[in-house]
Formats: sequence, structure tokens, C-alpha cells
Amino acid sequence: MTSSQGLREQRDALIARDGPWTGAAMALPDGSSTREGVLPGDDNVRRIIQVVSDLSPKPLEQTRVLDLGCFEGQFAIELALQGAEIVGIEGRELNIAKARFTAEAYGLERLTLIREDVRALQREQLGGFDVVLCLGLLYHLDFPEVLRFLERLSEVCDGFAVFDTHVCLRRGRTVRDGQRVYRGQTYLEHSPRASASKKQRSTWASLDNPNAFWFTRASLINALADVGFTSVYECEAPPEPSKRADRRTIVAVKGSHVSLRTAPELAARRWERAPERRPLPLLRNHLPGTDLLKRILLNRRAGRG
Ligand SMILES: C[S@@+](CC[C@H](N)C(=O)[O-])C[C@H]1O[C@@H](n2cnc3c(N)ncnc32)[C@H](O)[C@@H]1O
Repeated sequence: MTSSQGLREQRDALIARDGPWTGAAMALPDGSSTREGVLPGDDNVRRIIQVVSDLSPKPLEQTRVLDLGCFEGQFAIELALQGAEIVGIEGRELNIAKARFTAEAYGLERLTLIREDVRALQREQLGGFDVVLCLGLLYHLDFPEVLRFLERLSEVCDGFAVFDTHVCLRRGRTVRDGQRVYRGQTYLEHSPRASASKKQRSTWASLDNPNAFWFTRASLINALADVGFTSVYECEAPPEPSKRADRRTIVAVKGSHVSLRTAPELAARRWERAPERRPLPLLRNHLPGTDLLKRILLNRRAGRG
């Protein structure tokens, strides 16, 4: 039996036991693919790897990356193949078994895969990372656990974190964590009647929490600042035209707080919160169209129309 046949047989045995791969298809070292008949590759994977490569101050070979909710390993395996040291955390055995299969097929020694709930993340256990990937994960966590998770994520992040996440486009409801106020919506992850085994088989969903909380974009930015990130950016290119309007790729940088030589007293002042609505003066200056249209829109924004 050739090694190629051996790899395909192992892949097919895994599929027979756990079901097929459902994420981006990956080429295997023998030229076959994790998903027979599906062209390997996915523009989303290519896009995120581009962002990491562009923003990493060090070559990938000297970069330590954490991939949270690493699923079938499509990001972690690619980055490990490009030389980075990676830790992937995934809560579902059904998913991590597939990541392990591909990692072993490539003999990736700098990739460590851990089956764990990301909410238990700890710097004491894993150390610090130059890059933290939080892709397709944040919107599976509920409030307020999502804030505790962001605090832990910030603790392990020494460089920057990339989030690819849904945001709430509605006004949303208000939630509070001590003095801090955020807005967002509840999203149903599992039916209240779903059994534990059905939840485990929902391989793209939350682990166990029946609901998740989706921050508005402004509240997500505020939450990232609250947990210690010093600046936050949204990725516009490479573009992803097919992306839903409520899905964003956001980079949060863990820098140090600056102080101005020309105004040292500013260092003690808190940053203002990102506003949930655009400020009115900007609208007044920039609105196109007739005065009547301007007035209607301004009144709506002010909640009077
Ligand atoms: C929508 S998939 C996204 C996977 C991948 N990061 C991507 O962007 O394609 C969500 C993944 O997060 C995992 N997951 C969800 N909640 C988790 C938790 N609390 N701890 C660990 N993994 C979790 C799921 O099992 C699934 O693999």
C-alpha cells in the first residue's frame, strides 16, 4: 500500500467516524484534499494570512500565534506550514480530530492543538502570543462571559489580535458590566431542548451556551479598549465583497499608552467612548440632498421622527 493510499484511507476512516470536513478544503501532502472534489483554498483564509503577514513586525518564523476556536485547523495549519509557532484551541473533539489529522499528515512540530473551552484561557498556562486569532468565535459567546473572555484574550496578547465577527446592526439592547454599558443583541445558538450530544454535533456553533451576544460595532470597539487594547482598526483590503454587512474583520493592537510631551496632563484623561450613533454636527455638514431631507434625517437621528 502506498503512503498516499494510507493517507486517504485514514482520512476516509475519520470521515466515516466523525462526518466530513465542512470548512475550507486543505491540500494534503500527497496531493489529495481534505474535501474530495472541492478545490483547496478559501479567500477568507488567504485574506487573514495576508493580514497577519502584513502586520507582524517579525518574520512568521519568529512569531508565536494563538488560534482560538481553531475548528479543522485551516488557519493554524497554514501558518505552521509558513513557519510560525502555533497553539490552536478548539472545544469540540469532532473538529480538533480533523485538525490533528492534517497536522500529523504534514508532520507539523510547531503546532500544538489543545481541546479546551476558550473561556478557560490563561496566560499562566500558555504564555504570551504575538498574534491572537479570534475568527468566527466571539459571536458564539454570551454576555457577560464574552467580556471575561476578552479580558483573558487581552492578557495573552503581546502584539495584536484579529477578530472576524458578526456585529449587531440594530440599535440593540443595553447590557451592563459594573459601570460599563454596551449595546447588542441576543442570538440563539441552540434550541433550549437540544441535547448535549446534538450540541456537540453542531460543529460550527457555541459549545454549550444556548444564547450568544453580538455587540454593536461601537460597543465591540469600546469593549476592546476596556480590556486593554490601545487602538482598533477595521480591515478593508483585501476586500471580501461576499461578506455579510454584519460581519467585520477587526484588528486590535496591544500597545502601550502614549503620553504627550507637549501636554503631559492628558495622560490621566480617559478616552471618550466610541459613539453608538454618528455625532449630529458631522451629519449637518455632510448630508446630501434637500433641506427637507436633511431635516427629516436629523430628526430621525435625534429620535424625534
Ligand atoms: C464558526 S466556527 C469558526 C472556526 C474558525 N475559527 C473559522 O474562522 O473558520 C466556531 C468554532 O469555535 C468553536 N467553539 C465555539 N465555542 C467555543 C468555546 N467556548 N471554546 C472552544 N471552542 C469553541 C466551535 O467548535 C467551532 O470550531
